[in-house]
Amino acid sequence: MASVARLVRLTVGALVLLLVLTASAPSIAQQDQINPTARSVTEQQLLKEFDRIQGRVSIPDERSSILMQPAGREWREFRIVTLPWIGALVVLGMLAILVIFYLSRGMIRLESGRSGRTIVRFNTFERFVHWMTATCFIVLALSGLNVTFGRPLLLPLIGPDAFSEWSQWAKYAHNFLSFPFTIGVVLIFLMWIGGNIPNRRDVDWIKRGGGLVGHDHPPASRFNAGQKAIYWIVVIGGVLVAASGYQLMFPFYLTGIEGMQLAQIVHSIIAVLFVAAMLAHIYIGTIGMEGAFEAMGTGAVDANWAREHHSLWFEDQQNARKGSDDARPRPAVTAAE
Ligand code: HEM
Repeated sequence: MASVARLVRLTVGALVLLLVLTASAPSIAQQDQINPTARSVTEQQLLKEFDRIQGRVSIPDERSSILMQPAGREWREFRIVTLPWIGALVVLGMLAILVIFYLSRGMIRLESGRSGRTIVRFNTFERFVHWMTATCFIVLALSGLNVTFGRPLLLPLIGPDAFSEWSQWAKYAHNFLSFPFTIGVVLIFLMWIGGNIPNRRDVDWIKRGGGLVGHDHPPASRFNAGQKAIYWIVVIGGVLVAASGYQLMFPFYLTGIEGMQLAQIVHSIIAVLFVAAMLAHIYIGTIGMEGAFEAMGTGAVDANWAREHHSLWFEDQQNARKGSDDARPRPAVTAAE
């Protein structure tokens, strides 16, 4: 009898246990799905599940209701790890290419020597716009690189006081020079668009190595394919870097937090590519090619330089000169002093 009673107690106990387990099973299974209002939800689960943790605020600035934006961690990873790597590779990579090119090719010489006659290449206004844009660009590039590389590279060298002083001035310069730089890009676009539309001759120029490889001088008009590439890099890169930069300068006017992060990514990547392209441009305009700097320095180049590097443009100038000689005695080609 006692054993029957024990059996009944055990059976009832087992049934109750089974009932409790089956009743609690759904809540165990649901533990992986997040109920953000549940009291016991863990921070880790929240961070995994949501792109932001947001509350409610009664002040007008709705953005202050965002407590955490875990998706911003990916952006921070880009900002402090990926970007410095990309920047260093692109800028140092370009410098290495230029050093190797210079050591193997040397300065591209004027093969026919100087003729003693010069031909006007850029007028005063064109040179003013070029140097205004170039000066702004150099300051913008140095002050921008300081944002990414200043802390690891410069801070240990000059100490916190000098670094914060320099960084503050660099930031002022970066903000204010963005305006003349943008104006310069717009003027460059308008001034030189006429000579920078790509055509079939550019394909031939590229196929023949553009005069950089060997001693060939493929025919070119006022701007060759390499210069057209620089022109479009300046125009397209300038527009992108300015648009994303103004978005960063006037935060949250046009976009939310994701847009701000995207603007910073676009601004920084385009900027480092831009710097690398300009290093190549500065190289060819100075130590890379004999007689090139004069074009932007005095505004006039040697006639032989024009014949070697821009033969079609040179012919046009000669024809125009012949035509204008008949009409008014004001030559484009003059004897060098
Ligand atoms: C110290 C820096 C620089 C030097 C020495 C330099 C030199 C030159 C020279 C010599 C030319 C005339 C090339 C020719 O006659 O065919 C030129 C053209 C040009 N420069 Fe610069 N430049 C510098 C910086 C810049 C910067 C920072 C920009 C833009 C952000 C720029 C944009 C241009 C453009 C669009 C052209 C016309 C296309 C071309 O010739 O490539 N330059 N530059």
